Amino acid sequence: MTISSDKIVTAIAHTNIALIKYWGKRNAEFIIPYTGSLSLTLDQFYTQTSVQFDASLDQDSVSIDDQLIDGNGWQRVHDFLNIVRQQSDITLNARVKSENHVPTAAGLASSASAFAALAAAASRAAGMDLDLQALSRLARRGSGSACRSIFGGFVEWQRGTNDSDSYAVPIETPNLNDIRIVALTVEKHHKPISSRQGMALSVTTSPYYPTWVKVVESDLQSIKTAINADDFTRFGTISELNAMRMHALTLSANPDFLYFTGDTLEAMNEVKRLRHSGIECYYTIDAGPNVKVICQKQNAAAITDTFSKMFGPEKVTVAQPGPGVKYL
Ligand code: PMV
Repeated sequence: MTISSDKIVTAIAHTNIALIKYWGKRNAEFIIPYTGSLSLTLDQFYTQTSVQFDASLDQDSVSIDDQLIDGNGWQRVHDFLNIVRQQSDITLNARVKSENHVPTAAGLASSASAFAALAAAASRAAGMDLDLQALSRLARRGSGSACRSIFGGFVEWQRGTNDSDSYAVPIETPNLNDIRIVALTVEKHHKPISSRQGMALSVTTSPYYPTWVKVVESDLQSIKTAINADDFTRFGTISELNAMRMHALTLSANPDFLYFTGDTLEAMNEVKRLRHSGIECYYTIDAGPNVKVICQKQNAAAITDTFSKMFGPEKVTVAQPGPGVKYL
C-alpha cells in the first residue's frame, strides 16, 4: 500500500481499572485470556500518542515523554508495529511519540492506555480504518487490558477463544453513574515482577488457578447483575473479593510473589475502617502497590481527605468514568 510519509495521526486513550481482573493467558502470542474481565475506564489517566510512518527512518523511533527509548520497551512497540505493518501491508518504519499522563509501572495500568492509543494512531497512520471491535482486537495484541481502553465507562472483555472473537464491548446503559475511584499512588516504581511474568507464573504454578477460572465466571455474572440493578454494595463487595482472589494467585505461586507494600496494607485497613464507620467504600489493586478506592460521589470528599492526611494530597486523585479512544 502507498501511504504518504507525512501523515501524522494522534490518538488519546484513557486507562481502565479492572473490577473483575484478567490474570492469565491461554495463548500468549495472541493474548487470549483464560477468563473474561470487566473494567471502568477512568477520566484522569491517559496516554496521547502520535504515529507517522516515514520512509526516511531506518528503524522505528519511539519516544515516551520526550525520551527516546530502546531495549525491551522499544522491542515491545516494534513488535506491535510489525502487526500493524502486516495487517496494512506496509513496510515503512514509524516515528512514535507518546506522552503518558499515568504513573508508569505502578499498577495504574499504563500499558492499557498506551497500547490502546498506539493501536488507534498506528492503524490509522498506516491507512487502515478499523471499527472499534477491530481496534479492540488489535490493542489486545499489545497488552490484554488495552482492548478494554478502546471504550469508555464500564467495559467487558469477552474472552473468546481466538484472535477474531476475543475483544471488549461497552456495557450498554450502565447504572452506577455516580461512581468514583479515589486512586492512591502510594509508590511510583515498586513492581517486583511484571504482570506478564506474574500471570504466567500463576497459571503454571498456583494450584488454585483452575478454581480462579471458575470463580471469575460467577464474579462476572454477579457484577453485571449489580451494575444493572444499580446495587453499589454488591458491586463494591464483588470487586474487592475478586481483587483479593487474584492476589491469592501470586501468594500461591511457586516462587510466591506479592505486589503489596506496607502502605498498600495500611490503605486496605483504612478502607475497612471507613466502611465500618459508615462511609461505604471498597478497594481494588492491580499488579502493583497502588490502591484504588471504589466509592460513590457523596463520599469521595471524605475519603480523599482521609487519605490525603495519611499519604499526602499529591498521592490522591479522584477519577470518574472516562471516555473511549479518540483522535485529535
Ligand atoms: O494487560 P496487562 O498485561 O498489563 O495485565 C493487566 C493485569 C491487571 O491489571 C492486574 C488486571 C486487569 O484486568 O487489568
